[in-house]
Amino acid sequence: MSAPTARLRLALWALVGLAAIASVAILAFAPRATSAGGIGEGAYALIDDTGAPFDQTQLEGQPSLLFFGFTHCPDVCPTTLGEMAVWFETLGEEARDLKAFFVSVDPERDRPEIIHDYVSWLDGRVTGITGTKEEIDKMVQAWRVFYEKGPGSDGDYTVNHTASVLLVNAEGGFEGTIAYQEDPAVAVDKIRKLLAAT
Ligand code: NI
Repeated sequence: MSAPTARLRLALWALVGLAAIASVAILAFAPRATSAGGIGEGAYALIDDTGAPFDQTQLEGQPSLLFFGFTHCPDVCPTTLGEMAVWFETLGEEARDLKAFFVSVDPERDRPEIIHDYVSWLDGRVTGITGTKEEIDKMVQAWRVFYEKGPGSDGDYTVNHTASVLLVNAEGGFEGTIAYQEDPAVAVDKIRKLLAAT
């Protein structure tokens, strides 16, 4: 009689185990609205495209544009960097204190020298950021953005990612977003408001 009871007990414990795993999974994927801290709050240790350390404190002291992407990106990233070039060109001296960061969500391929070459045509206005997947994930979670590796063409992989540009104020706080392919006049107006607010 003891064998079935033991088996039943084991089965019940297994259910408890599954329930625990399920609740952890739900917590991990639930919106973080109830957690302490707002968008952009969190610590991460990455490197810039020269190999120098980069962390959350480098978003303080000046307004910044923040964009997450990867150098192999076929469309969204080249388009957005092209738009950024236009914004900087339009704003000229007005944007002298504005920084821009292109954060890789593909650390496997985006080594500092690769990402440095990728942003170099923007005359130093955009700094490339990369690092370990673990630290990139911390920054991605802090800024509530999203990325996901998926199959690409020719057996290669691609990375789907948030296409908005994040506006960051001089306190390193979230100020708003510029949508992908936003009307250039609207985008420049948003940046002017960011500059005026800081
Ligand atoms: Ni992209």
